[in-house]
Amino acid sequence: MSGRFPYPAYPNGWFRVAYASELAPGEVRALHRFGRELVLFRDEAGDAHLLDAHCPHLGAHLGHGGRVEGTGLRCPFHAWLWDGDGRCVDIPYAKKIPPKARIHAWTLMERNGLLLVHHDAEGRAPEWEIPELPEIGSEEWSPFEVRHWEVRSRWLDMNENAVDQAHFKYVHGTHEIPDTDAEIDGHVLRCRSRMKMGSGRHGGIDTTDYGPAFQVVRVHGGAEALMMNTATPIDEEHTDVSFAYSIRSNGDPAATRKLGAALIRDLEHQMEQDIQIWEHKRYWERPALCDGDGALGLYRRWMRQFFGDPEAHAREESP
Ligand code: FES
Ligand SMILES: [Fe+2]
Repeated sequence: MSGRFPYPAYPNGWFRVAYASELAPGEVRALHRFGRELVLFRDEAGDAHLLDAHCPHLGAHLGHGGRVEGTGLRCPFHAWLWDGDGRCVDIPYAKKIPPKARIHAWTLMERNGLLLVHHDAEGRAPEWEIPELPEIGSEEWSPFEVRHWEVRSRWLDMNENAVDQAHFKYVHGTHEIPDTDAEIDGHVLRCRSRMKMGSGRHGGIDTTDYGPAFQVVRVHGGAEALMMNTATPIDEEHTDVSFAYSIRSNGDPAATRKLGAALIRDLEHQMEQDIQIWEHKRYWERPALCDGDGALGLYRRWMRQFFGDPEAHAREESP
């Protein structure tokens, strides 16, 4: 919790571990997230599961050579079979299953085309969920275009970008500083930014954060766009950031595609501009804010609810 980032590396909430379409039934993937080795698999019935990766028997990594069998995962080393809840259900050469044969199973949710994992440093069950977005599955909206970045920074430093109204002008070159207001609604934060676009038309960006790692951005004025922004901690210094973009059809498929492509180019460029700042900045707990900084202070107060118990986080970060 010290040094460059004086806040927990792994906040409490829901985090993307994969896009649902990336994991077909029978597929197994090794993952490194939250500073831990994990294995993600989709069983033959179509349900996805996330387990700690190392087999409690003699320590094989289930994500390297493990095979899906029915609703379970067979270890590549001595063929013990694990179910999606982390229970050993078969040892082909033993009569009894030892009580210590348990693997930690993470809580997963499949929603909005994402596989989301619940992380809580104290191991508590989720108290809220990520809602279904009404645009998803609608014919009016284009299929998602997805981009990934691995950024050498942490969740809070990146998340507060949406409410940092002055940076839009000085980093991204908007014509003016947007007028931003934000309101807290429990684990949800709603933020509205209004500004004049390049065309002179007024446009807006509505951002809704559901916890620390699932952000929905709706762009109005000119193109209507939807973005699902998700950020998952890899370790204490690195974050897997992904944006999924969709654009509302204006009735002309070719024009919509062109508009979508231009929007994505612009967003990718903005991301590169942001990354340069994020990878080298420091997080001040008591920054010297000014009266033009808008909702930044509110945002930081809201974020603290996902810090959880500092001692539980400290245990996680130095196992
Ligand atoms: S290490 Fe997994 S079954 Fe032996
Ligand atoms: Fe930005």
